[in-house]
Amino acid sequence: MDPIKNPFSPGAGSPPPELVGRDSLLTQTNILLARVKQGRSEKSFLLTGLRGVGKTVLLNAIEQIADELEYKTVFIEAHENKTLGLLLIPKLRQLLFSLDRMLNAGDKVRRGMSVLKSFINGVKIKYGDVEFGLDIEAEQGAADSGDMEVDLPNLLIAVAEAAQEKGIAVAILIDEIQYLALNEISALIMAMHKMQQRQLPLVLIAAGLPILPALAGESKSYAERLFQFPDIGPLSKEDADRALQDPVKISGVEFTKEALDEIFRLTHGYPYFLQEWGYQAWNHAEEPVISLKIIQESTSDVIRRLDENFFRVRFDRLTPSEKNYLRAMAQLGSEAHRSGDIAAILGVKVSSLGPVRAKLIKKGMIYSPIHGDMAFTVPLFDDFMRRAMPEFQNG
Ligand SMILES: Nc1ncnc2c1ncn2[C@@H]1O[C@H](COP(=O)(O)OP(=O)(O)OP(=O)(O)O)[C@@H](O)[C@H]1O
Ligand SMILES: [Mg+2]
Repeated sequence: MDPIKNPFSPGAGSPPPELVGRDSLLTQTNILLARVKQGRSEKSFLLTGLRGVGKTVLLNAIEQIADELEYKTVFIEAHENKTLGLLLIPKLRQLLFSLDRMLNAGDKVRRGMSVLKSFINGVKIKYGDVEFGLDIEAEQGAADSGDMEVDLPNLLIAVAEAAQEKGIAVAILIDEIQYLALNEISALIMAMHKMQQRQLPLVLIAAGLPILPALAGESKSYAERLFQFPDIGPLSKEDADRALQDPVKISGVEFTKEALDEIFRLTHGYPYFLQEWGYQAWNHAEEPVISLKIIQESTSDVIRRLDENFFRVRFDRLTPSEKNYLRAMAQLGSEAHRSGDIAAILGVKVSSLGPVRAKLIKKGMIYSPIHGDMAFTVPLFDDFMRRAMPEFQNG
């Protein structure tokens, strides 16, 4: 069928033709944002899930809801090689300037700016030059200790107080939160703890790979009290069918039941894969009924595209020893595995695998669902590893 009219949208963060199966989360988001705006407290969200389940798409949808509720939003994507401070500074500066342009009188915005300036001074000590031309004196000692867990809460409180004075609520959205350093995550958690105590109108909604197991001590117990951790998972069979059927129906096209069953069997309901199979099936079909045969004919193209894009970009960033570690996990199957079993396949001591495991976690390839276990963050990566690497590598 006409590829130009293809409704499916495989791709990182590409909005799907229909955001299926996330209604209750979006309703909860509405409640959270509306409550915070009225100065009532409510637990924020930390959306966690594997690669390609639709976290970024959800975070974008949440930003839209926040916009509709007249929030000021700050959206950042965390990064392996960039600190939280550097990501936040330009966005908060922009936010304070836009608050400054609002009419209501008050001096909290000016104070917000001088605390931001102080925070920049604190960051400068550690990370070199950051100049943002804030024409204002830094408030000495406000947020310049250089200790994130002290400075960030102070900065965010000053920003929230400035917003409150203008009758505005703020939503900070952070994608790929697992890339933040642990002290940055705990600084955010501390900040939200203070926010709740003072009932300030600032919410934090984050998304990423599961991080809770990595937190410890105070941050962990605060995190559990302050946040909900909605698990963003694959779609149910019914939702997966809708994600495929509804978008094509508009054009008078239909998947047969057998075709839908086969796609579900292959994708396990993972949104990224549903989009990819839907996309190829549409292009392969010559008639408005997409049958099992079309799915079977499209599958090798889908696998090739996934191998070349979705999987390959991640694979190419790995060193030989990291590849071997993942290959050993793949040998054991798709679920979580004990570190000891992985070491046994590689014929080495568990203790010798610590560094490679840490690097794979940092790269977002694996995570620890429970202590001592390791699992893939990318669905179906075990199949891919066996295809891409029939043999273990030397080195
Ligand atoms: N609820 C949904 N229904 C149908 N398709 C969806 C849904 N959510 C996401 N998708 C599709 O899945 C793909 C992946 O979405 P997205 O990039 O948001 O995932 P992600 O969880 O952020 O992945 P990553 O961890 O790699 O960043 C996109 O092509 C998107 O269109
Ligand atoms: Mg994403």
